[in-house]
Amino acid sequence: MIAPPLLRARNLGRHYAAARERAAILSHLNLELAAGEIVAVVGRSGSGKTTLLNLIGAMDRPDSGHLEFEGEDMSGWNDAARTAFRRARLGFVFQAFNLLPTLTVRENIALPLELNGLPQAARVAELLNALSITALADRFPDQISGGEQQRTAIARAIAHRPRLIIADEPTGNLDRDTGREVIALFERCVRAAGATLLMATHSDEMLGHADRVLELRNGALSARP
Ligand SMILES: Nc1ncnc2c1ncn2[C@@H]1O[C@H](COP(=O)(O)OP(=O)(O)O)[C@@H](O)[C@H]1O
Ligand SMILES: [Mg+2]
Repeated sequence: MIAPPLLRARNLGRHYAAARERAAILSHLNLELAAGEIVAVVGRSGSGKTTLLNLIGAMDRPDSGHLEFEGEDMSGWNDAARTAFRRARLGFVFQAFNLLPTLTVRENIALPLELNGLPQAARVAELLNALSITALADRFPDQISGGEQQRTAIARAIAHRPRLIIADEPTGNLDRDTGREVIALFERCVRAAGATLLMATHSDEMLGHADRVLELRNGALSARP
């Protein structure tokens, strides 16, 4: 028996009722992600990248089509199952980092471990070291730079060893050199963990780190050579 892909989207559709022409943002979108792949999604601003990532991350629901994770139909999941998926199997790197301002760097990274009832100290120390932020462990997010916040956000996304990591323009707020450094670290962590990474990006620099590049246009994805 052939194992199902990690993720499969079939004929996925999403429109926003509030949008002026009620035009579909995504329509008949197909995507398969294999375990261990790094896939980049490119497309102009407003093409629907964030909408797609939010559907796959179970933060939003499609209007039509099917989404499967490890062969399970996600549309059959109730809210508790969706929350459990996000907590245990998903790591999400938000464009604006979304670190919790009242928690230190160490506590932000420990949070997914705590939520999953996993041991914290050794794993947090390992991630602080891997992302070169050990010296910042006891600072709060507003006491570190954008690049350091992003490294913290990456550590938090991978801490609990999720099968799927989604990153929405992860270097969008970083200058070129910092972005380059952060994405190289990110790739190393993802590959070492054997996780699958799906990232939206504007940055050509990040494309070199992807196994495949897909372009989102007119609501659907196509391979970009
Ligand atoms: N909650 C919403 N309500 C109505 N329209 C939205 C909403 N979120 C996004 N859109 C619209 O959907 C389109 C796709 O947005 P988005 O997925 O954020 O694109 P991208 O991430 O590629 O820039 C845009 O035209 C945007 O204005
Ligand atoms: Mg976006």
